[in-house]
Amino acid sequence: MTDAADGILDLWPTKLVRRHLPDFEEPTQAMVKLIRDMERVNKDLTTDYLAPDFFNKDEPSINWLREQVNATVVDYLRAIGIDYDVRWSIQGWPNINRLGDYHDAHNHPGSYLSGTYYLKVPTVKEPMRNRPDVRPSNITFYDPRPGINMNSIKGDPYVDPEFTVTPEPGLLMMWPAFLNHFIHPNLSKETRVTVSFNIVLKWQDHYLPTQ
Ligand SMILES: [Fe+2]
Repeated sequence: MTDAADGILDLWPTKLVRRHLPDFEEPTQAMVKLIRDMERVNKDLTTDYLAPDFFNKDEPSINWLREQVNATVVDYLRAIGIDYDVRWSIQGWPNINRLGDYHDAHNHPGSYLSGTYYLKVPTVKEPMRNRPDVRPSNITFYDPRPGINMNSIKGDPYVDPEFTVTPEPGLLMMWPAFLNHFIHPNLSKETRVTVSFNIVLKWQDHYLPTQ
């Protein structure tokens, strides 16, 4: 791509959404109960990616979250400059992480965007000795450009190759599906409950870039 404009250019951005959903308490509590009931039937709920899609259920709390996710996708597309018709489906699954559970660094192939909604996050860590930099139940995102921080100096924007978020109930995060992320271990006997989702595009030929 070429551009004739002079100036300090902002190239290759990585756009993430961090959004606290309004009035989340009631639907979130209802959804936690629903997910616990689902886990009683399917013990492998968290890793069973072939289970029926979470968002296919017609439950008030899930309908609320579906609306929030769809509105967030609309805002995201607008913010990155896409002003034409885009169609997608949401594919979601619940996660319950217990003491010691984590999810190693990964991305979400086949999807355009990915995201997580946080329903319940442990507030206490078990009284065990750990290294001081543990960040239990956090999520870390990694700069998708390998080695970009190799020659960075204090104050430039390339120093930190990672971005970590301490989640709390009611938080919705959404990011490009190619972005690697790591779910830190839960170090509490309290459960960490989330709903993760992928935004999968329904292909239309006008998505093809003109270059
Ligand atoms: Fe993920």
